[in-house]
Amino acid sequence: MTQRNDPCWCGSSKKFKNCHWPEKPFDLLAYAKKHHILLKTPLQIEGIRKASKLAAFILDILCQEAKAGVTTDHLNAIAVRLHKEHGAIAAPLGYGEPPFPKSICTSINEVICHGIPGPRALQEGDIINIDVTSIVDGYYGDCSRMVMIGDVSEERRRVTEVSYECLMRSIAILKPGLPIKTIGDVISDYAESHNCSVVHQFIGHGVGVEFHEEPQIMHSRNKDKTLLLPGMTFTIEPMINAGKAEAIVDTSDSWTARTIDGLASAQWEHTILITESGHEILT
Ligand code: MF3
Ligand code: CO
Ligand code: CO
Repeated sequence: MTQRNDPCWCGSSKKFKNCHWPEKPFDLLAYAKKHHILLKTPLQIEGIRKASKLAAFILDILCQEAKAGVTTDHLNAIAVRLHKEHGAIAAPLGYGEPPFPKSICTSINEVICHGIPGPRALQEGDIINIDVTSIVDGYYGDCSRMVMIGDVSEERRRVTEVSYECLMRSIAILKPGLPIKTIGDVISDYAESHNCSVVHQFIGHGVGVEFHEEPQIMHSRNKDKTLLLPGMTFTIEPMINAGKAEAIVDTSDSWTARTIDGLASAQWEHTILITESGHEILT
């Protein structure tokens, strides 16, 4: 719970004890509504937890299957089969405009995100992000990881490791009352100190009842003073580049996002719940 000397929930930047503590109780629901944030009920949280567990389980298997010689289409086919076997739906298929054509995203080397599985076989030296979003009983769980195929270059290893650290360090600080902008500060501080840049054109997002909900979670530096509240579920999914931060979306498919300079990019993603006392990683 928020302590007396922590910043107040309301964003006033006064101490909690000098603001809404305790005789002026903070109206969680009104604050969430104002920011279009859905605070999940215990029942919804159970559903999101189940979907998140399945997404993480499927992702685990796909990461084990990602080896030199295996095509990204093959990984997609495994994901299709596993979703079917578990009575679940892969959220990416048909999502957005134009409709995303496959059931997972596979983003290799200089591809930042939203790579489309295809006939390309993984090669020694590649890095690949596999992103799985599962729908179970109408609830969503969203997660992604990197796999290094054999020996990879210093540049590719650096973005893979730095993006993992950025994700885990930004999760470690999460608790009610924290301004969302702190996430971007933690990620940017770490990435910049390791000679990497942070993609600003794609963001984390509320997730659970829909694929992409409020709030937006920026990974780069920002001014978002919105406070985290118990019952929020959202992703953090920092995309970290070895060179320039800019992304270019492929005009031939309107999805594949690549680095502008062709240097490597990496990303890890979790779905997270804000609890009364801190946070829980659901994936
Ligand atoms: N899973 C991605 C995310 O983390 C979204 C992919 S959109 C899709 O938000 F259409 F490509 F699936
Ligand atoms: Co996501
Ligand atoms: Co995702």
